[in-house]
Amino acid sequence: RKRCIRISTGSKQLDAALNGGFQTMSLNEVYGEFRCGKTQLAHTMAVIAQLPKEMGGAEGKVAYIDTEGTFRPERIMEIAERFGVDPDQACENIAYARAQNTEMQTELLDGLAANFATNEYRLLVIDSVMSLYRTDYVGRGELSERQQVLGQFLRRATQMAEEFNLVVLMTNQVMSDPGASALFAGVDGRKPAGGHILAHASTTRLLLRKGRGEERVAKIVDSPDCPEREATYIITTGGIND
Ligand code: GTP
Ligand code: MG
Repeated sequence: RKRCIRISTGSKQLDAALNGGFQTMSLNEVYGEFRCGKTQLAHTMAVIAQLPKEMGGAEGKVAYIDTEGTFRPERIMEIAERFGVDPDQACENIAYARAQNTEMQTELLDGLAANFATNEYRLLVIDSVMSLYRTDYVGRGELSERQQVLGQFLRRATQMAEEFNLVVLMTNQVMSDPGASALFAGVDGRKPAGGHILAHASTTRLLLRKGRGEERVAKIVDSPDCPEREATYIITTGGIND
C-alpha cells in the first residue's frame, strides 16, 4: 500500500500552516499575482522533493512541465547548495519539458506515465497550468470547449497523483481583467484562471501575495485538513525560506 508523504515548501511557517507541506496523491494549486514567488516555490520544491524525509523531502525524482519558459537550472543549483546536495545531481533528477501549446501539455503529461511507472518520482510541477489554455482558447465562444479539455487534463493529473504517489504542484495566474473574473465567480479581480473546474480539482489551494518589502504572504484557501490561515515567507538565493 502506498503511503502519503509530505514535501516541505522551504518555509517552516508555510509548512506549519500546511501541516508539514504538500501531500502526495493530491493536486495542489498555487496562484497569485506576478513575481509573488510561484515559480520560485516550484524550483525550491523541485530540490526539496529529492531530499531525505527527515529534511522534508520524499527521496524522489521530479518532473517539471514548463509552459512559460521560466525554468532556470542555475536556480536549481543555487537551491541545491543551500541544502548541501550536489547541484549537478539535483538537475539530473529533474525531468524537464517545455510545452508550447495545450496539446503538447497533454502529450507531455501522458508521456510522463512511463517515468512515473519506475516509482522513483514524487513531484510533478506544472508551471503554469492555465497559461497555454488562455492563449489556445480565446474568447467566450471557446470557453466551454476549453473547460472540457482542461477537465480531461486535470482528471488525468489527479489519476497520476494517486496512482504514482505524487505531489502535483500547479501554479496559476490571477486574472486582472475584471470582465473575465466576473465570468466565473467574483468581481474582486483576484480570481485564479481556470474557473470552477480547476478550483474543484485542487485539493489544497494557496493564494500568494506581496507583503511588506521582501515579504510574501501565502493564504491557504479551501484545504480539507488545514484551516484558512496565512503564513509569511521570503524569496532568497536558496529559494523559499522564512
Ligand atoms: P509570474 O510567473 O510572473 O506570475 O511570477 P511568479 O509568481 O512565478 O514569480 P517568481 O517565482 O518568478 O518570483 C519572482 C521573484 O523572485 C522576484 O521578485 C525576484 O526578486 C525573486 N527572485 C528570483 N530569483 C531570486 C534569487 O536568486 N534571489 C532572490 N533573493 N530573489 C530571487
Ligand atoms: Mg512564474
